[in-house]
Amino acid sequence: MSIKEQTYIMIKPDGVQRGLVGPIISRFEARGFKLVALKLVHATPEHLQKHYEDLKEKSFFPGLIKYMASGPVVAMVWEGLDAVKTGRVMLGATNPLASAPGTIRGDYALAVGRNICHGSDSVDSAKKEIALWFPEGIVQYNTLLAPMIF
Ligand code: PPS
Repeated sequence: MSIKEQTYIMIKPDGVQRGLVGPIISRFEARGFKLVALKLVHATPEHLQKHYEDLKEKSFFPGLIKYMASGPVVAMVWEGLDAVKTGRVMLGATNPLASAPGTIRGDYALAVGRNICHGSDSVDSAKKEIALWFPEGIVQYNTLLAPMIF
């Protein structure tokens, strides 16, 4: 059964530098998700190492941290029905060459090392990532649409 969830979505440095912040946010708004946290952050390598802790043994880990620390990212939390799974579908496959047209990566990216966005891969990961990027907490507010959706 579909339930209301929160997911952590991050526009990576290449997405910010290519001017894709607006188009990516628009897709989540248009789909009906509710924005409950957003900030532009130039993250430190230490912070990024925590975010990608599960990947620290991978050969691409140093390059991934360098790429993610190369400029600011847009950190966001989106809320809605099945937000984690649907967010991943909207981003497309991790390797943009395998991403379907119509997905964010399928429309805007070519290389896995420059895939412009990140989305939590599970509800547990989302909780951890939201706590890491928004220790100050997220914004609580009602929308007119929310009672119809939830
Ligand atoms: S793995 O090996 O299956 O655990 O990795 P995967 O799930 O495909 O990807 C996990 C995150 O690592 C990023 N990634 C890379 N970054 C840079 N270079 C290379 N070669 C590379 N391969 C994978 C990938 O984009 C995932 O990060 P997020 O932020 O979730 O997109």
